[in-house]
This record gives sequence, C-alpha cells and structure tokens, in this order.
Amino acid sequence: MAKRSQPVLHRLSLAESMTVLVIVGGPLIAKGIMVRRPLVVRLLQSTGLEGGAVALLQRLRRRYGPGPVMLRLPGREQAVLLSPDDVRRVLAETPEPFETDSDEKHATLAHFEPEGSLISRGRDRVARRALNDQALESGCPIHSMAPHFREIIDQEIAALLSGPDDLSWGRFKDSWFRIVRRCLFGDAAADDRDLVAMLIRLRSAGNWSFLHPKRRVLRARFLSHVAAYLHAAPPGTLGAGLARRATTRSAAESQVGQWLFAFDAAGIATFRALALIVADAGITARARNDTAPGYPFLRACLLESVRLWPTTPAILRQSARPAAWNGSTMAEGTGILIHVPFLHRDDERLPFSHRFAPDVWLRGEADAWPLIPFSGGPGECPAKNLVLLLASNLMAALLTRNICLPPGGKLDINDLPETFDHFSLTLRHQAQSPLVAQRCS
Ligand code: HEM
Repeated sequence: MAKRSQPVLHRLSLAESMTVLVIVGGPLIAKGIMVRRPLVVRLLQSTGLEGGAVALLQRLRRRYGPGPVMLRLPGREQAVLLSPDDVRRVLAETPEPFETDSDEKHATLAHFEPEGSLISRGRDRVARRALNDQALESGCPIHSMAPHFREIIDQEIAALLSGPDDLSWGRFKDSWFRIVRRCLFGDAAADDRDLVAMLIRLRSAGNWSFLHPKRRVLRARFLSHVAAYLHAAPPGTLGAGLARRATTRSAAESQVGQWLFAFDAAGIATFRALALIVADAGITARARNDTAPGYPFLRACLLESVRLWPTTPAILRQSARPAAWNGSTMAEGTGILIHVPFLHRDDERLPFSHRFAPDVWLRGEADAWPLIPFSGGPGECPAKNLVLLLASNLMAALLTRNICLPPGGKLDINDLPETFDHFSLTLRHQAQSPLVAQRCS
C-alpha cells in the first residue's frame, strides 16, 4: 500500500538510487542520448529492457506516493517526478524557476549548439526562444511556407518512389534530409550530405556529454557552414526567415544546430508512424482517406508514434532557486527528471498504453493526462506544428502508393514493444491497386 504519510520530497536509499540510475538512466545513455546506436537499439528491442524503467517508477509511486523522489547521489540533488500534477507544474513554471538549461543538457548540447535556446538563460534565452518561435511560426498549425514545402515533398517522394521498391530507413532518411535541407536553405543545399555528417560527428561526441572534450574546430566549421547557408538562403525558406529576424544575441547558427539535430528525430518518428499505419488495414484506409485540411488523422498518427516511442525520453529541468514544494523545499540547483515513457506507457493509468491509439489525440484524451512528446508549457517544442505539417504531408504523398511491411514483417498494433528498432525496418512500396493489399506480394 502507498505510504501517503512519507515526506513530499522522499529521499531514496543509496541502493534504490543506484537502481534508478541503472534501470532508468542506463538504457537512455546506452542507446545514445544525442545519436542512437543501432546495435544497442536492436538489443533493447529484443530484450524489452526499456519496459523495466516504467515498472520501477510505478513501484516507487506505489511505495512512496505521488511526491517527487530524491535520489541519493554524491554532489548532485536530483528529483524524479512521479505525478502528473508535478509534471504540469514544472513545465508551466519553465524557465522560471525551472530552467531548461540543466548541467547535463548543457554539457551535451554544447557540443554542437553552444548558444542554443535550450541551454541559454535570462535575456539570452528570451531572445533565442523568440527567434525560434517566429521563424518556426510555433503558434500556427499551418506554416506560411506550407505550399512551397509541399512542392518539395512531392518532388522528393516522386524521386524516392521511382527507385527500388524497398524503403529502408537509409533510403527514407536520405530523402527526408534532402527535403529538410531544401526547406531550410533552398535547393543549393539539397545534396550537401557533409552538413549532416559533420553534425553526426559532433552529436557522437555529445553522447559522452561531460566526458568527451569539445571538438572545437569541427564545431566552428559546422557553425560557419550553417552561417554561410543562412546568409545565402533564398526567400521562401526557413533559413531566410530566421536570418531576417536574427540579432547578435539570438545566435542564429546555434538555433539551426538544434533544428538539424531535431529533424533527425522527426524523420525517425515519421518512418515509425508509417510502419504503424500500414500494419493495420483499417488504419491504412483511414490514413488514405484523410483529406481534411491539415490532415488531422495523419497528424494524430505522428503524435502516437512519438507517444509510443518518444524521441526525447528525458525532459530535464534545473531549479534556479529554492522552490517550495507542498510544505517542503527543493534546493536551488536541483536537477529534475521527467521520464516521458513513464507517463506515456503507464499501464496502471492508461488503458491504451501499449496500443496504437491515434484517436486519443483526436478525442482530447491527451489533454487529460500529460502526454508530452513535444514537452509542454513555455518550453514546448516550437517546431511541433512544423513537424506535424511536414510529416503529415510526407505520409500523404507516400500513401498514394501501396506502402507495406515486408513479407513476414509483423507489428502488432495492440501490443507494441517499448523500443522500436527503426534502423532494421524496411518497408516496401508498390503502385496502388484497387484491391489495396496490406502486405506486399
Ligand atoms: C519528432 C520531432 C520532434 C520532437 C518529438 C521534439 C520534441 C522536443 C522536446 C520534448 C523539446 C523540449 C526539450 C527540453 O525541454 O529539454 C523540444 C525543444 C525544442 N525543439 Fe523540438 N522536437 C522535434 C523536432 C524539432 C524540430 C524539427 C525542430 C526545428 C526545426 C525543433 C526545435 C526545437 C527547439 C528550438 C527546441 C528548444 C525550445 C526551447 O528552447 O524552449 N524540434 N523539442
């Protein structure tokens, strides 16, 4: 039975704290915080180890109630949130007093975006966040450049589908990043694979956070490459919109470092959403028939993809000053962990936890519980709408063909694994026949 009389900020024993570090933190670090390691992802999928983190946090909630638990760590105050109300509070009270710029995040992201808004404070953060909001049009479901983006998507998807009938992650990703570079910097950047390759090397260093020295020369080369593109970005591109509004304080190149990094996650989420859609004939038909403005059903499928497999599984905050917490006080400098899979896959609270359930996003159930793949509050991802726009348009373009799982491929949409190894997934495409086959021949 839950011990409701425990102090609100209950401190775990050393053994419990180590268990949290290993079971919750271990898989996140092992699979790569900044760039995923394919072998580890495959191993996690085959062992189901990531489900252990959710089970452990459920046990702690049963034992100690809903208040945050404090880990016992040398030299660091670290809270783990267990209740939806606490999650909502921390997200709403961002960045004051709960800063996005936590020590761990800073050490990791500074490898490639030293002045990114997420790792900035005070007036710098205000300017950088505002620049992101304006250029990405965070408040608009349909970005003003949407028609141009759709043209680019249609051209690139036509080129992709004119090739071999297999649709591996590698081929999908190449097309995705051509689309991204054209939307960002114009057609001149379409073939520039070096840009993303440079970023991958910096992100790989970021996987080691504090432990890896900064690759300062490579980082400077990457940021000046981005700056040159921004300088030359033609009208009608995201880069031109950014460059037009940038000031010295808003550090445009660093913001683009975050964009290019996060577009990788958006591509992964889109590819997984496609696999989910074609795994079920009824869902495929609904997706194909989604012709309403803004593709609401396809958007919901993308949101489900990131609910099931959040590409940002750990949302980190740090308390800038002592924070009152139901009669207790959280010390200044305390790190705060919101473990997103715990919220999204909590089978003690959510009846749809392991199912593909896009309707929860259409029926507003996502508002009743913190389903936060894009975070929430003032620190919510400013590209949420842009990602949903690009992903839904791309899926609509692809679904004009018969996309399917490979023969023998199986994805049970009523019992989905905690890890999805997208690296090993190869979809297939065929011209669409009147009798829509779910499996390719
Ligand atoms: C599936 C795709 C994506 C997901 C699930 C996602 C999710 C998130 C989340 C959870 C955060 C908050 C992180 C934190 O508080 O530590 C965030 C922040 C951010 N994201 Fe995304 N993101 C995605 C794609 C993108 C893309 C494509 C861009 C840019 C084009 C982008 C730009 C940003 C920026 C600039 C921030 C920092 C916001 C701030 O400083 O307050 N994201 N994103």
